[in-house]
Amino acid sequence: MSDQVRIIDVGPRDGLQNEKLPIPTDVKLRFIQALADAGLNEIEATSFVSPKWVPQLGDAAELWPHLPSSPLFSALVPNAKGLERAIVVGVKRIAVFTAASDAFTRKNINMSVEESLEAFRAVIEEFRAQVPGGWVRGYVSTAFECPFAGLVAPSAVREVSMKLLEMGVDDISIGDTIGVAGPSEVHSLTNTLLEVIPIEKFAYHFHDTHGTAVANVSKALELGIRAFDSSAGGLGGCPYAPGATGNLATEDLVYLLNREGFRHGVALDRLATASLEILKLFGRSPYSKGQLAQLSASGTFPT
Ligand code: HMG
Ligand code: MG
Repeated sequence: MSDQVRIIDVGPRDGLQNEKLPIPTDVKLRFIQALADAGLNEIEATSFVSPKWVPQLGDAAELWPHLPSSPLFSALVPNAKGLERAIVVGVKRIAVFTAASDAFTRKNINMSVEESLEAFRAVIEEFRAQVPGGWVRGYVSTAFECPFAGLVAPSAVREVSMKLLEMGVDDISIGDTIGVAGPSEVHSLTNTLLEVIPIEKFAYHFHDTHGTAVANVSKALELGIRAFDSSAGGLGGCPYAPGATGNLATEDLVYLLNREGFRHGVALDRLATASLEILKLFGRSPYSKGQLAQLSASGTFPT
């Protein structure tokens, strides 16, 4: 098994979408640049969703043209209107997002899972036609539990994943949206999904509400998964998933990977400093253990 791990930092999107304080576009751009400077190769930069639903990311079209030429940037696209806005500014990597639970999907995008898959089929077809060489990710949220409907069967996640694969997505991110799963659930879901998702297209997206995200990554690594979403400083949460807190902090992920001998290209010290800047803006102290330990070791622990 490879010792190379893909880290997809979703901080500028998942990390910021739930923040109430308006963040100026140039502050977001500085944050993104700092993440790029820390060595992140893949960054989910924003969402072309309705600004009525997620006002914080309403500046997606203003932000996108100012992104640096590397690393790889992607953005969420929920419908034809989002796709049109994204294509106009040159987005080459999109993510469509559905879930394994109707109840959550309705709250999040005002569609049933089936309706969302129909909508995304059209979005993906149009994207492929207009953006040759483009890349598409499919998210499957509430893969373990839905905040409205409770436990989710692995077979439901498998079914949605298969439909996304049939539409030709390049990558599938399996989301523990409310951050409740433990390693044995990850074990069982991974085994079910590996029957249908090619391992090189398989990513996990753990939120860390109960502190189990690192344990879940460790289990997934054991099973051969080599792609993980995380958010600098552990920011994040979906505004339409009550009870969800931040994503797995990229600092915690990087520490684990370093310790376990995996390669990923991210400099923990630079990352911890980048997260500190954005957390300061929200008047929040660092809380990810990976970040705290790094800041403390480098003498930049905030007083
Ligand atoms: P709707 O209200 O059913 O849509 O929302 P609509 O077509 O009736 O449009 C309502 C208004 O929004 C209209 O404006 C549209 O033009 C406008 P009005 O006529 O009232 O002035 N509109 C748009 N404007 C800009 N860009 C667009 C767009 N679409 C419509 N793309 C919709 C349906 C899907 C748009 C809405 O529900 C939405 O935007 N939802 C996004 C919610 C969201 O971003 N959630 C967080 C991301 S998912 C997540 O965090 C989970 C994840 O991290 C994985 C995990 O953790 O598991 C990915
Ligand atoms: Mg998320």
